[in-house]
Amino acid sequence: MQKTIKRKHFAPVAVIILTAVLSACVGGQLGKNNSGQYRNGMVVSANADASLVGLNILKKGGNAVDAAVAVQFALAVVYPNAGNLGGGGFMVYRSASGEINALDFREKAPGLASRDMYLDSAGNPIKEKSLDGHLAAGVPGSVAGMVAAHQKYGKLKWEELVQPSVLLARNGFKITARTAKELNREKERFVKFNPLGTALLKDGLWFEGDVLVQNELANTLEQIRDKGNAGFYEGPVADSLVAEMKRGGGIMSAADLKNYKAVWRKPVVGNYKGYKIITMPPTSSGGIALLQLLKSVEPFPLKRWGLNADSTVQVMVEAERRVYADRATHLGDPDFYKVPQQQLVDAAYNKSRMSSFNWAKASLSSDIKAGLLKTPEHEETTHFSIVDRDGNAVSLTTTLNGSYGSAVLVKGAGFLLNNEMDDFSVKPGAPNMYGLLGGEANAIVPEKRMLSSMTPTIIEQDGKLFMVVGTPGGSTIMTSVFQTILNVIEFDKNMQAAVTAKRFHHQWMPDAVYVEEGALDSAATLELTRKGYHIVPRGAIGRVDAILKTKWGYYQGGADPRGDDKALGW
Ligand code: GLY
Repeated sequence: MQKTIKRKHFAPVAVIILTAVLSACVGGQLGKNNSGQYRNGMVVSANADASLVGLNILKKGGNAVDAAVAVQFALAVVYPNAGNLGGGGFMVYRSASGEINALDFREKAPGLASRDMYLDSAGNPIKEKSLDGHLAAGVPGSVAGMVAAHQKYGKLKWEELVQPSVLLARNGFKITARTAKELNREKERFVKFNPLGTALLKDGLWFEGDVLVQNELANTLEQIRDKGNAGFYEGPVADSLVAEMKRGGGIMSAADLKNYKAVWRKPVVGNYKGYKIITMPPTSSGGIALLQLLKSVEPFPLKRWGLNADSTVQVMVEAERRVYADRATHLGDPDFYKVPQQQLVDAAYNKSRMSSFNWAKASLSSDIKAGLLKTPEHEETTHFSIVDRDGNAVSLTTTLNGSYGSAVLVKGAGFLLNNEMDDFSVKPGAPNMYGLLGGEANAIVPEKRMLSSMTPTIIEQDGKLFMVVGTPGGSTIMTSVFQTILNVIEFDKNMQAAVTAKRFHHQWMPDAVYVEEGALDSAATLELTRKGYHIVPRGAIGRVDAILKTKWGYYQGGADPRGDDKALGW
């Protein structure tokens, strides 16, 4: 089980590191201005090794989509927490000439899934059944998503984009302190669901700097490199997945895998004070929610009030309360449920929703009657933002759902399966396992996609690229993206400062304002508390990775210090 190799004995690892150092040096000389901004392209992701893979693809002449494909596969190796082959995600794309597109590679319910599959005979949700183990997994979409993205927009050869990840998996890479801590924390789950062993298990504890080698994953990546979709959804990898399902009592079939398709969708587009917001449509709730949030606060003088001033927070929280209430009722997979998209993002509608807000005291979520909220998504997702030298941009968020997904690594294929089935409403219209409420729009149906909050977003100003932004964070995704955008547009922060700034979050139910330490000063906390807001301190909210194009034509990165995130440019 143990796969630890000392770096000094392993030449390829040294080569990877040398490449990293050289690239950083070269990156420092080409097209860089003296404030750490770059002219020719940028990659911001959750992991330095993955960002470097993307940067090298850009330097080889690859475009933003090529780099995105390479980063997605690299994250599946170096960031197993959320990077994945066995999950899904969304990509928003804007070409240098202004063409926009959105790719939905969200997981789907297996064909044998059923509405009540996570309920006991009394009709109550069975704790953990949608979260852990084989039954929690939806049909993975990431590989099909990358193939579709590359077929439509890729420039370099597919093999060149997958090969860096084959090497990272085969030769190993040094894990960060954070990854070591997480792998140690997950050990019990890995042992429980992987009795035949996995590369993520080690006899002792993992430490920062241990080299993680994943040979089974490398074999799978080679199949994908050589055969594309057929290397994953058919053949030995699919056989391993189906055998894993049989071993663990799962229901995903060979037909589910063979039938999986990623879908191109029309991005949702809105306007905030003249900025054009291009974001993800359903199956994500994120894009619609983001536009609703921006429209709800647009009439208010946030700039005058200032960042995280009590009035600013009050207006943003009241917008969040109403938008999340809407989300609960009105959002689901558009292939199965008619989402009233135009009405939800309409400026007059959102203005009217805000008319019940009273400056003197907090609204009560129990008085906001738009609908019933589903389970909050888990927070272990990951986002990356990429721009290339021509100005093409990719905003991509991808997920296994919970940290390390279902904890099932497919034996023989070495990749983790998601636990995305928990993003469905396990029991529509009744409290679920978290005590929250779910909606019919997001009930489980075979082959339906579960609702998401992922909000990959691109912003234009005066017809030109302005910002690429997104974050992990489950139900906090929309509010983190919302705050990051306002931090730049309203509060004049540069990209890094906008990402670093402390955040707060409200999601209608529970009726609480969650705040990172230091987000609110004591005067704002006192004033909001006096008005009836329930302020609840919590840990990090989101991990935003974003890029801003400055008016001088340079790319400015914002890599979230809440994680190991890294911005690299050239
Ligand atoms: N599983 C997190 C999300 O899709 O929002």
